Amino acid sequence: MMSNIYAFRFREFGGPDVLTWQEVALASPSEGQVTVQHTAVGLNFIDVYYRTGLYPVTLPSGLGLEAAGHVTALGAGVTDFHVGDRVAYATGPLGAYGQALNVPADRLVPVPDGIDDRQAAAMMLQGLTAHYLLRQTYRVQPGDTILVHAAAGGVGLILCQWAKHLGISVIGTVGSEQKADLAGTHGCDYPILYKTESVVDRVREITGGEGVAVVYDSVGADTFMDSLECLRLRGLMVSFGNSSGPPPALEVGSLGPKGSLYVTRPSLFHYTATKKALLAGAQELFDVVQSGAVKIEINQTYPLQDAPQAHADLQARKTTGSTVFIV
Ligand SMILES: NC(=O)c1ccc[n+]([C@@H]2O[C@H](COP(=O)([O-])OP(=O)(O)OC[C@H]3O[C@@H](n4cnc5c(N)ncnc54)[C@H](OP(=O)(O)O)[C@@H]3O)[C@@H](O)[C@H]2O)c1
Repeated sequence: MMSNIYAFRFREFGGPDVLTWQEVALASPSEGQVTVQHTAVGLNFIDVYYRTGLYPVTLPSGLGLEAAGHVTALGAGVTDFHVGDRVAYATGPLGAYGQALNVPADRLVPVPDGIDDRQAAAMMLQGLTAHYLLRQTYRVQPGDTILVHAAAGGVGLILCQWAKHLGISVIGTVGSEQKADLAGTHGCDYPILYKTESVVDRVREITGGEGVAVVYDSVGADTFMDSLECLRLRGLMVSFGNSSGPPPALEVGSLGPKGSLYVTRPSLFHYTATKKALLAGAQELFDVVQSGAVKIEINQTYPLQDAPQAHADLQARKTTGSTVFIV
């Protein structure tokens, strides 16, 4: 059976105005799927990459990988969810920018009572990312110093708080004084204003010349090469995003003289590829948030229909922390 809902679609790659809010058909959930009625949808930078065509997608397409809400219908074979359950998801399928979506049951996470729908929509993608970056890509150790770019952003604020909670010394880069203050009250010991200070010089100064154990670099083009210069011997460069554009091509041989460096380009999809990994990461995330050690700062909310404006604001670096669409 079909029902009609409203959702965003885009038919061409481009600026925020390629997104159109339109009536679309929603089929009954297929085998293994659940229909989720959305109450809150997460805004993430990856939505921009899909909208602009940086990440490939077949057109026309829906947009958005993350939402929270409740289950309204179950496909055949789904036994671990019930109609009315509160759930959230962070790895799609694309189409979260809408009133409802059919999602494979094995991509859904039950949301605990102490966490409301907006928090869930704000934290799933960014928080699961912070989790795998700190616990798996490089397992931070007390005594480590790390460098986090875009420290006042959605992933950034969660990363800084979580790292601080784990006993790590955190250096972060930010684009304004206001963002420096925000990062500073969320676990970032040394905010660096990259517009007026040399990041490499400041990192060397803060670490007594040694460099950091790991750089978590989501900015890409503008920061990648300097990030390599911030690492200690045998340090790890984690290039996990492209907010300023894709990082430059890397000459593998150059990693030797820079200190036998390691480089990785991780993705949340691969770190939550199994249901077990997804649920384990979500459990650690919910625990650290419910303990109060990590606060999910929803600093912007928009009606879902205003997604084009939210995209413009995110790309103009006007947002801090997490952004949620209200459905
Ligand atoms: N690989 C993964 O698994 C994964 C998962 C989640 C997120 N990510 C990546 O993590 C990054 C952060 O995502 P988010 O949703 O939390 O976004 P965000 O960090 O809240 O927003 C982007 C921030 O990046 C900084 N920035 C630097 N250069 C920029 C530019 N040219 N244009 C726009 N912003 C620029 C800005 O902060 P300043 O003003 O302080 O410079 C801006 O506020 C993104 O690159 C995203 O793709 C990757």
